Amino acid sequence: MFRDSTTRSAGEVAADQAAAALPQGRPVKLRINGVSRKYGDAFALRPSDLDIEQGEFVTLLGPSGSGKTTLLMMIAGLVHPTSGEIWIDGRKATRQQPYERDVGMMFQSYALFPHMTVGENIAFPLKMRRASDAAIRTAVEDVLEQIKLPHIRNRFPSELSGGQQQRVALARSIVHRPSVVLMDEPLAALDKSLRAHMQLEIRQLQQQLGITVLYVTHDQEEAMTMSDRICLMNEARIEQVATPAELYFSPRTVFAAGFVGESNSFDGEIVSTDGAQALVRTPFGQITGRLMGAGSKGARCKVMVRPEAVSCSSVDASGQNMIAGEVLSHVIAGAIARTYVRTRDGQACVATDLTRRTGDAPSGQVVMSFRIEDTLVYGDGS
Ligand SMILES: Nc1ncnc2c1ncn2[C@@H]1O[C@H](COP(=O)(O)OP(=O)(O)O)[C@@H](O)[C@H]1O
Ligand SMILES: [Mg+2]
Repeated sequence: MFRDSTTRSAGEVAADQAAAALPQGRPVKLRINGVSRKYGDAFALRPSDLDIEQGEFVTLLGPSGSGKTTLLMMIAGLVHPTSGEIWIDGRKATRQQPYERDVGMMFQSYALFPHMTVGENIAFPLKMRRASDAAIRTAVEDVLEQIKLPHIRNRFPSELSGGQQQRVALARSIVHRPSVVLMDEPLAALDKSLRAHMQLEIRQLQQQLGITVLYVTHDQEEAMTMSDRICLMNEARIEQVATPAELYFSPRTVFAAGFVGESNSFDGEIVSTDGAQALVRTPFGQITGRLMGAGSKGARCKVMVRPEAVSCSSVDASGQNMIAGEVLSHVIAGAIARTYVRTRDGQACVATDLTRRTGDAPSGQVVMSFRIEDTLVYGDGS
């Protein structure tokens, strides 16, 4: 890491560098600089860096226990970091109290106050920041318009539907116009259709008002649907930060390829490499793919291919990579049809296609083919 010879911290230097970079990009609203948290000897979050620009929607995505909530709680000021600095809108917030920080919160554990009306709930962050009664009244009215619920100010949370409660919680998180809004699995308790609806609503409001959001979910589809960028987390560290498309088409690690979307995975050995490509020996012949990260001749590797990149054919087989196999079953799963194939050495593979009314389902002996650019090769250690 870069070290400055003066007494200034790495975080201050980094903030200056970000400010210097302003003309090209948007201002950095949130900077996580070497932030970690330990409980006893175990890291809940290893030292991590992340910048979020003004107006961005960034999602922390990862399995349960990967450190997402810990990071959010540190930004909110509810958990103290073991190391590192947190910058909010150019100000060092690491040692600020939660109410001093310029953040809004929509947490599962921070539900609406049942004994307060909707208006009082929404006014809460403004009261904590000692806003005047007049300012509070105007701000609450404005935000109720924004969430399209102008007439519920005097109701109690128990008198609202689940979706309305979520919208009130959203209103409470943005009413004081915070620099960053933090949301921890805010839709986890909702049923599927309401959740899909609220995803769109939150995203639309965020874009319309230009709000900066750091969102947490373990649901990859939710992350892909809502985010400008996804910060993928695994085992207390950041695995990859990328746009949804980058993460899907160029996952940097085997974990990333497996966690986001579906993948077929084969073991192999690297025969040779040529720039960004690798030739791999597998139990069913040689395959060429894109080398993701390090990998040298003779190294063990994993080959990953998305099911929709695989086509099954009994007639022509003219793909760049080909594997022979036998169809086990063909299933119409809705918009997508899935073909399960067993390779000659007994490995299970799946190919997906859009479901069509006409056309024969693949059966019997087939050849699965897929393109080099859709074939990802991960050397040992990735
Ligand atoms: N207060 C705590 N005391 C001890 N361990 C904790 C505490 N909070 C979180 N952890 C541990 O830190 C890790 C990350 O937890 P968390 O940030 O809640 O993960 P996530 O939100 O991704 O599910 C887990 O292994 C969890 O058990
Ligand atoms: Mg969590």
